Amino acid sequence: MEIIHTIEELRQRLDIDRGAGCRIGFVPTMGFLHAGHVSLIDAAVEANDRTVVSIFVNPLQFAEGEDLEDYPRDLDADLSRCAAAGADYVFAPSVEEMYPRPVDTVVSVPGVAAPLEGEHRPTHFAGVATVVAKLFSIVGSCRAYFGAKDWQQVAVVRRMVNDLSMPVEVVPCPIVRESDGLAMSSRNVYLSTEERSQAPLLRRALDAGLAAIEAGADDAVVVEAAMLEVLAGVTLGSVDYVAAVPADSLTPDGPLTGEVRLLVAVKFSKARLIDNDGCRAST
Ligand code: PAJ
Repeated sequence: MEIIHTIEELRQRLDIDRGAGCRIGFVPTMGFLHAGHVSLIDAAVEANDRTVVSIFVNPLQFAEGEDLEDYPRDLDADLSRCAAAGADYVFAPSVEEMYPRPVDTVVSVPGVAAPLEGEHRPTHFAGVATVVAKLFSIVGSCRAYFGAKDWQQVAVVRRMVNDLSMPVEVVPCPIVRESDGLAMSSRNVYLSTEERSQAPLLRRALDAGLAAIEAGADDAVVVEAAMLEVLAGVTLGSVDYVAAVPADSLTPDGPLTGEVRLLVAVKFSKARLIDNDGCRAST
């Protein structure tokens, strides 16, 4: 496995690989890798001839007052994980390499980025779309692997790729969870012991929403009430949102039909947790 720090070098290596007929798999991350990230690398290694993992804590997607400075980092452990999973290249650029001067070009996807996370983190998805567009431009034609954990992020990236005809196939991968149901996240290390014991309630709230739909509910308000009832047990955090929405638009649109996504966000003292699951509506 090679560790590459510059845009130029990564481009050169991948041009040579593509010239030799290799298919490229790409896994963008912000590092502090856990089993969720590793599942994406596994999927990329399985389906491609070369796999690139990027590790870059992207300042553009953190708002003033968020955890950019404190975001957990451990490059050595990340490199071991990438090597063990069979990655060929780790792209770990510095902030100066990625953004040698303040960025003037911003990619925004205002429709699908607006609800849910967009209401609570209004600048977040423009930061994500901009860095992902830049990474896609550096990596070039590839299959790119994203976790369903960040469901709205996948929707934003998909829309961007379609609208701008980027030569990228977006591959969504299932959420990897701890044994008690908590979705793995680099930010789980921020949870206190007491908060950690309440964190699995997010998964249980999703289960309650799924059960309500299974029982025939097609009114989002009823499904969301079932989720909120479970989340009443989160005494150490506050609910940012619960939502039962069409899986593609993520925007309420009358009675629930077709593919439905349930999404939840809870703010604890330092960690803000998100989770989601989906099903087909009964009607
Ligand atoms: P990061 O939070 O490091 O996540 C990198 C990828 O891992 C994302 O696609 C995310 O959805 C996926 N992932 C995280 N936890 C997961 C889990 N428990 N199961 C499955 N997949 C999981 O998302 C980002 O970084 C950034 O926004 C990025 C796309 C790299 C742009 O900066």
